Amino acid sequence: MNCKIEAILARKGKAPVAELTAYDYPTARLVDEAGVDMILVGDSLGMVMLGYPDTTHVTLAHMLHHVEAVARAAKKAVVVADMPINTYNTPEQAVETAQALMAVGADAVKLEGGVAVEAQIRAITQAGIPVQGHIGLLPQKVKEDGGYRMHGKTDEEAAAIMRDMEAVVRAGAFSVVIECTKHSVAKAITDACPIITIGIGAGRSTCDGEVAVFHDLVGGFPWFTPSFARPRADIATEISRAVKEYISEVKNTI
Ligand code: KIV
Repeated sequence: MNCKIEAILARKGKAPVAELTAYDYPTARLVDEAGVDMILVGDSLGMVMLGYPDTTHVTLAHMLHHVEAVARAAKKAVVVADMPINTYNTPEQAVETAQALMAVGADAVKLEGGVAVEAQIRAITQAGIPVQGHIGLLPQKVKEDGGYRMHGKTDEEAAAIMRDMEAVVRAGAFSVVIECTKHSVAKAITDACPIITIGIGAGRSTCDGEVAVFHDLVGGFPWFTPSFARPRADIATEISRAVKEYISEVKNTI
């Protein structure tokens, strides 16, 4: 395991880990220079960068293009590259995809699922590539899974998410994202889990760290903001203001 990943793992129970998405060079450089621990080139780029309705339209070609740009910018943060839907259907395909993402500069890869992708995660980690798992709400399965909803509300569902965490750990991942679960479920998983848990929509202080989508943090995608997001800026309004000012200046001076 490389030393950047070991340093993240060593923070379990000691110092919270801040992860943020970025998809392009200037954003990645800004968040890296601001001191974020991990940059996730998430397949959320399908929505916030490419205008698709969900992440299921993202291809490996899209990911390679964006990971390469982010990797050029990130000097300190761990760059985690999402593996898009249908690029890890078998362990062999998973290793090929992970190797392609590492070849353009990723430090680690992320894929969705627990028990169902244990063999894929194991094959990738055995090939020497660090893996971040992703359990709870799985955006790539949102169509068959009843939309964007809170997971782990029933005892059965909570137990299934716990089994997913155990599978991800057994397969050798260094971290796992827990998305949109009941807060008590995220906390119970974090307490039982030897690797770094990263929450999103899973409550505050329930995990070893948090991840946010950059556009949700800075108000950069005003047409949809998840209910759990806590925007800290409003760049969409500022961009509109600057553009209108520019248009008006051009129209009034030429
Ligand atoms: O693609 C993404 O941005 C993600 C986060 C929501 C964790 O997977």
